[in-house]
Amino acid sequence: MPETTPRGLTRLAFGGDYNPEQWPESVWQEDVRLMREAGVTMVSVGIFSWALLEPSPGTYDFGWLDRLLDLLHVHGIRVDLGTPTVVPPVWFYRAHPEALPVTAEGVRYEFGSRAAICHSNADYRAAAATITTRLAERYGDHPALAMWHVHNEYGVPVSACYCDSCAAHFRRWLATTYGTVDAVNAAWGTAFWGQRYAGFEDINPPRLTPAAVNPGQALDYKRFADATMRENFRMERDILHRLSPGVPVTTNFMTALSQCDSVDYWAWGREVDLVTNDHYLITDGRRTHVNLAMAADLTRSVAGGAPWLLLEHSTSGVNWQPRNPAKAPGQMARNSLTHVARGSEGALFFQWRQSRRGAEKFHSAMVPHGGTDTRVWREVVELGASVEALGEIRGTRTEADVAVLWDWQSWWAQNLDWRPSVDHEARERADAFYEALYDRHLTVDFAHPEADVSRYPLVVVPALYLMTEAAGRNLTAYVENGGTLVVSYFSGIVDEHDAVHEGAYPGPLRDVLGLTVEEFSPLLPGERVRVTGPDGTELSADVWTEFVVPRGADTVLTYADGLAAGLPAVTRHRLGEGTAWYVSTRLGADGLGTLLGRASEDAQLAPRADLPRDVEVVRRTGESGTYLFAVNHTGSDAKVPLGVPGTELLTGDRAAGRLAVPAGAVRVVRLDG
Ligand code: GAL
Repeated sequence: MPETTPRGLTRLAFGGDYNPEQWPESVWQEDVRLMREAGVTMVSVGIFSWALLEPSPGTYDFGWLDRLLDLLHVHGIRVDLGTPTVVPPVWFYRAHPEALPVTAEGVRYEFGSRAAICHSNADYRAAAATITTRLAERYGDHPALAMWHVHNEYGVPVSACYCDSCAAHFRRWLATTYGTVDAVNAAWGTAFWGQRYAGFEDINPPRLTPAAVNPGQALDYKRFADATMRENFRMERDILHRLSPGVPVTTNFMTALSQCDSVDYWAWGREVDLVTNDHYLITDGRRTHVNLAMAADLTRSVAGGAPWLLLEHSTSGVNWQPRNPAKAPGQMARNSLTHVARGSEGALFFQWRQSRRGAEKFHSAMVPHGGTDTRVWREVVELGASVEALGEIRGTRTEADVAVLWDWQSWWAQNLDWRPSVDHEARERADAFYEALYDRHLTVDFAHPEADVSRYPLVVVPALYLMTEAAGRNLTAYVENGGTLVVSYFSGIVDEHDAVHEGAYPGPLRDVLGLTVEEFSPLLPGERVRVTGPDGTELSADVWTEFVVPRGADTVLTYADGLAAGLPAVTRHRLGEGTAWYVSTRLGADGLGTLLGRASEDAQLAPRADLPRDVEVVRRTGESGTYLFAVNHTGSDAKVPLGVPGTELLTGDRAAGRLAVPAGAVRVVRLDG
């Protein structure tokens, strides 16, 4: 069995992507010296090195990588070794131009950037298998090797290819999935708009069409593209397992919903030995630390709650957004240690030394252009010491209070063409509900809609347009057995083929919610409605309204304006031992706070009113103890009630009563007993 933690690493991981091929070997000596100064324990190497390792077909140059791995080993730095299959060399593309992917519009990408790959291409697969085999044979038992890093961020930036090889592969995938073409016709509803297929050979990828393409076809193509990338991952992983037994194999995910929308990470989480993630702050004016916490929670959930590893984030600004602000003093440490609080077994960056040339030269790094007499370097060294001081938390698990249901496949379906409103976005609702829970200081686990959620007192469904009957039964049983459920609008509408569930909306949720929805009535841009209750509650909502008919549920809040005036806006249904809430409109942050406050009362989840806003408190627990992480994202000193006394690991101080967390600082207390 492969190990599930980096081999030979006895501390938390700290380091980054190391691309030393950009520098003369004399610089490597300085690199390892500085790595030791900063407390680096692991680096990721070789992710983009195919053209150097195999300069011409079948001719290999491993000398430089031999010297590099030996050098790192001598200095006690573990290696996360990449298979460079995300960047085939130019000679490969000259021989196999059809391995370059094609867009839905029929345009073939060119060589000259990275990650231009058709994953159905047989020549690409063969070449990827060969270079992976060569690397595994050479380095499979190298003493520096801690783990294998396959490819890079599958699905980013090319999520699908639409070429003829993919068309043929898609037909095979459909034949395996459905058996007969009639089953495909039935699932996709091709009786409509005269799209009936006589044979699999008639079916193409959903390429450019004059009006909306068949949604069943489009949804299955996303599944196919995702499954095809997974086939290639498995192919490499199995070679590595065979030739490098025991060494864990991973590929770096991008779970943040704002950064990758084409990969079903529930499925991928089951394929890797160790879940790893890359996370970058998106500076779009929102609270970046909330987005970060959400990505970390999603990563941990994809790992089934087990420890995972942050393989990339940035020391300061990135270079690929329209505007790339630097991180504020202390922000890097808060970011890194929040990932650790939420389950990461360390913190690594892109990249070690800032590039002088190439597309990413304005991306920050651990060693900036300005060298070591810089704020970034000083903060890197300080962070390295903090990460080292936290070594004993390895193997502990983050405790969560609430489950939020999320499904990438539902998101794909929701984002297809021709929906009731372009303003309703599943991700926006997931973000909004997450933020409202974050502001109540509740730690979130994400769960697949069919997963067992019985251990959570509160389960939130922000946007699950696609939901199976099995998921509906799961949630009904959850409530009957005493759970509290909160469901947001436009959930439970279609089945796995994007076919509307029979009967009234919301198909599999009707019984648990005790209502039906007769019609959707989205609002126009700028239009708002008031939502009021008998106790004087008045909330404002926008984007979406519905005509809800209670069938057992009680009306809690009612639409005061708009076409739905007088109809229920928020309902509550007692079922068995539990309660199910439904919100049929888009509430703002205050409204969601009010709703979740009431649902939390049903769930008997005590509010953490003693914690200030933006002071994040998370616990990890395990054999070595219980650890309370407090991250102060504010500009004011804060106090965090401890309950039990303990020892603060970053300062070594004893802590009791109310823990002082200075403005912008992080504190980690090992609680006594
Ligand atoms: C990641 C990628 C890295 C680097 C980084 C920059 O998506 O894996 O190689 O490009 O972005 O932020």
